[in-house]
Amino acid sequence: MRMILLGAPGAGKGTQANYIKEKFGIPQISTGDMLRAAVKAGTPLGLEAKKIMDEGGLVRDDIIIGLVKERIAEADCANGFLFDGFPRTIPQAEAMKEAGVAIDYVVEIDVPDALIVDRMSGRRVHVASGRTYHVKYNPPKAEGRDDVTGEELIQRDDDKEETVLKRLAVYHEQTEVLVGYYSQQAAAGDATAPKYVKIDGTQAVEAVRDQVFAALG
Ligand code: AP5
Ligand code: ZN
Repeated sequence: MRMILLGAPGAGKGTQANYIKEKFGIPQISTGDMLRAAVKAGTPLGLEAKKIMDEGGLVRDDIIIGLVKERIAEADCANGFLFDGFPRTIPQAEAMKEAGVAIDYVVEIDVPDALIVDRMSGRRVHVASGRTYHVKYNPPKAEGRDDVTGEELIQRDDDKEETVLKRLAVYHEQTEVLVGYYSQQAAAGDATAPKYVKIDGTQAVEAVRDQVFAALG
């Protein structure tokens, strides 16, 4: 199965990706996680991406498309994958189409902007695994520690309110158009179009998960 998780920053893509990848046995491909790994490793890509990410902007399409094409050619992607935070622009979506990557499902997690800053300010992340918590809504078993490894959780550099607002604006300007791009293909009855599923992301984490699973069958 090949899937796309679509939604604003903080909508819960990473949180739901963790459940989906386990249930369906497919790798999660988070371009955000890949870029953060490059930043941490201090590669030329990481050095370039860091500034853009800290400002809440988008990294150039050609760089992202190159990264994703390389990743989906790896052996563990043979039976499918889950895109998290990709595609984020029309050129990124078109690049997948041109490469013949047939997507089965697009799952949109819909959350209004008003809830997003609160979610981001309470977010804590286990960097090595990508597991995500929230101090109020999805707390770890031990404060500040990952449930599985017991390692320390961190706050992301781009979760400052000012950067979150910029990321939201960029989402509305450049990414939200993909809602129409994919849902209209499905509505037009194009046999090769992915199935389009929209989930109310304001519900509790487990309720969102159950609705995603029900939609995926
Ligand atoms: P990326 O890492 O993709 O960030 P994002 O899309 O902004 O999304 P987030 O990871 O912030 O949110 P999420 O939806 O995963 O929410 P989460 O599950 O963590 O990208 C970062 C940057 O990299 C971009 O700004 C850009 O610069 C660059 N980049 C990445 N991909 C790119 C691309 N394709 N092209 C160009 N540039 C790219 O949840 C958030 C919080 O809410 C957590 O604390 C969680 O516990 C909590 N929560 C989740 N669900 C619920 C719920 N149902 N109820 C209550 N709380 C919840
Ligand atoms: Zn994420």
